[in-house]
Amino acid sequence: MPPWSPPSWRSKPAAQQVAYASEAALSLAVSHLASLPPLVTSWEVESLKSQLAEAAQGKRFLLQGGDCAEQLHDCNADTIANKLKILLQMSLVLVQGSGKPVIRVGRFAGQYAKPRSEDLERRSGATLPSYRGDLVNRTGFTEAERTPDPQLLLRAYERSALTLNFIRSLVKGGFADLHHPENWDLDFARHSPLAGEYHAMAHRVVEALRFMENIGGVRAGEMEWVDFFTSHEGLHLAYEEAQTRQAPSRKRWYNLSTHLPWIGVRTADPSGAHVEYFRGINNPIGVKVGPDMTKQGLVQLLDILHPHDEPGRLTLIHRFGHARIGDCLPRMIEAVRTAGKTVLWCCDPMHGNTRHTADGIKTRHFDDILRELEQAFSIHRASGSSLGGVHFELTGEDVTECLGGARNLSAADLKRAYRSEVDPRLNYEQSLEMAMLIARILRPDVASSDPVTAE
Ligand code: PEP
Ligand code: CO
Repeated sequence: MPPWSPPSWRSKPAAQQVAYASEAALSLAVSHLASLPPLVTSWEVESLKSQLAEAAQGKRFLLQGGDCAEQLHDCNADTIANKLKILLQMSLVLVQGSGKPVIRVGRFAGQYAKPRSEDLERRSGATLPSYRGDLVNRTGFTEAERTPDPQLLLRAYERSALTLNFIRSLVKGGFADLHHPENWDLDFARHSPLAGEYHAMAHRVVEALRFMENIGGVRAGEMEWVDFFTSHEGLHLAYEEAQTRQAPSRKRWYNLSTHLPWIGVRTADPSGAHVEYFRGINNPIGVKVGPDMTKQGLVQLLDILHPHDEPGRLTLIHRFGHARIGDCLPRMIEAVRTAGKTVLWCCDPMHGNTRHTADGIKTRHFDDILRELEQAFSIHRASGSSLGGVHFELTGEDVTECLGGARNLSAADLKRAYRSEVDPRLNYEQSLEMAMLIARILRPDVASSDPVTAE
């Protein structure tokens, strides 16, 4: 392998990059960014890596979720707290279902850049650059708003820091204490059809914790706390490069803008710039695997990104769609096995199941999402592999973006509270219901008196 450095990606073809009007303005913003402190530390990054290594051995389960695209104006206390609440509630349900500690990774504090299939968007005769996330431009359909603005790199970085600061304070202040799941109740969800079942589960977790503490004579210590890690698609390479630092004590490079950056399906070319950038950082990384990935392509990626088979290094996030997973996943499992590598397998049942309603609204159906997940668990099991995590686009808000679920949202309902600017997210109830259904798949014989492992 040729030598790597943070800017070595610049010599390779980079898909999905942004055409800024002024290179000088971009360089100025990037050098400002490079002078600011990192958002996370290499200790946290390594701690996540070792937890992911355990998940790859079947000892933990990964829950990754959040918005398709964060937006700068959504950086407020309620939205952030609601996102944590739904992730905490889901993880509590998954702890019950899997009997394993759950690793919580948010798609937050940096999920501001979006790949687009089309560079341009046409609306009633006018053509403008596509919206590429608040890191790059704005959603409004005017020339000014769609022009890429390098200052947004700094604004998104600052919002990431504010988000993470609030999350850390909440966690440290006891918000995530497993003894008090009542902290995570969402006001508007009090009358949800799922509330009863969820509260019974939460009660069982608290009881189990107390039981263990009584036996051990101490509070469960580390076990009672939960951590959150952050993740985002490492798409905008100038932004990622500016946050790439050499940890003084380790002499290794890390992307310290997030714990777990991932490569999206549109930028996973083994000879492209994104793969070049990712090969040199020591974070645990994710790679999205879609229907166009070949066995040979995956083996090449494993060689470049996972050469030493380092435990916890690589999470493969497959997203084929419920109609194609049966065809696609077995070959990918086979490719990894032939390469003799260990990875953590995670299923993103969202991105292969996108469709449009008759009115042209982008949506996903709860049943398609569930069908892909069910197949993912059973295909892995049948292949002697194991699904160690799930990846969702979701929100703690009461939106109507995905069809189906316990309230059976219809195409007409989507018009009521559709807020995503990019992909449709599971709302609070749909997310919780999905977690309950996964818990059933993980432990179909779960009985109300079963002991739980708490974390
Ligand atoms: C995403 O996760 O929002 C995304 C664009 O995913 P993918 O690269 O799998 O299409
Ligand atoms: Co998306």
